[in-house]
Amino acid sequence: MLRYLTAGESHGPGLTAIIEGMPAGLRINKAEINRELARRQSGYGRGERMQIEHDTVQITSGLRMGLTLGSPITMIIENKDWKNWKNEPPITNPRPGHADLAGIMKYNHMDIRNILERSSARETAARVAVGAIAKKLLSKFGIEIISSVCEIGGVNESEKLMREKIDQARKNGDSLGGIFEITAKDVPAGLGSHVHWDRKLDGRLAQCLMSIQGIKGVEIGLGFAASRKSGSKVHDEIIYDYNFRRKTNNAGGIEGGISNGEDIVIRGAMKPIPTIKKALNSIDIITKKPVKAKVERSDVCAVHAASVVGEAVVAFEIANAMCEKFGGDSIKEIKRNYNSYIRMVRMI
Ligand SMILES: Cc1cc2nc3c(=O)[nH]c(=O)nc-3n(C[C@H](O)[C@H](O)[C@H](O)COP(=O)(O)O)c2cc1C
Repeated sequence: MLRYLTAGESHGPGLTAIIEGMPAGLRINKAEINRELARRQSGYGRGERMQIEHDTVQITSGLRMGLTLGSPITMIIENKDWKNWKNEPPITNPRPGHADLAGIMKYNHMDIRNILERSSARETAARVAVGAIAKKLLSKFGIEIISSVCEIGGVNESEKLMREKIDQARKNGDSLGGIFEITAKDVPAGLGSHVHWDRKLDGRLAQCLMSIQGIKGVEIGLGFAASRKSGSKVHDEIIYDYNFRRKTNNAGGIEGGISNGEDIVIRGAMKPIPTIKKALNSIDIITKKPVKAKVERSDVCAVHAASVVGEAVVAFEIANAMCEKFGGDSIKEIKRNYNSYIRMVRMI
């Protein structure tokens, strides 16, 4: 089993990720992780923080001469902005849509910064670093994870119109969300399982996408649209061409909680960014008087970045399912198990 933890605050000294269970013998290139980190920082509509941080990773355990050892891998990403953020006054005006109010009630804090420092999507930089290593593992089996932005604030006609929509929101002191799509290509049939709820691959992928800050909806394949069509228009007919294939892929590559050999296609719907210049009404947590919500330096729209985070979390969960199915302590052992399984499936 693969697992990971992230730690770190948005304006603390840095973020840390520890991955446990990564097999030995995988070549890791820091430049590849840094490339993914740079992709997370890009996209139209991002805030000024992106000009301050140029994320790069340090790997402090689990690697020797560029190869994984099988021991826990620790990665650290520095926060350059840390120096600017010491001794900030307490924040007492919670933002609707953020973790601010629910967080201070739960953890008994009187300064909202004690919550927002960790609820911030800065944490997703650590997840992207983890995902880059998962992608590397998947590449050994020819599996590729890609993404695209499908819609911004209800607009999907062209990139130009999506950018205009973001410009308009920025001008109005407002924010936007949207929809992105992740595709996992060349995933073998047989990952996940129908036998128990927490082994179903669709459920597992939905949980990881839903755990990304701001994601409020997940669809696999046709998703919600399938509920509006009849069965004959939805289910993917089976054909055989030296391999079992489908004429269509409305199921998005998963049936009964098991990958079926088609591309896995999964979409995430992101709500508009909660920090907005034209601040919403709120209540001061000390005085209980009406105030405007806190305005932090913020993105106007981060759907592109969320799609890069989506790739990372999907890559990790598919890598996890691969390690479960083809278990082994080294890449060589997993490859041997994988090859023998593929031969067996071809004989059916
Ligand atoms: C890549 C990315 C960037 C984000 N940037 C911001 C931001 O600049 N300002 C903000 O208020 N929320 C931002 N968010 C969304 C919030 O982190 C999120 O809405 C908040 O943590 C509350 O969680 P919830 O929306 O899942 O309930 C971002 C989310 C992602 C995935």
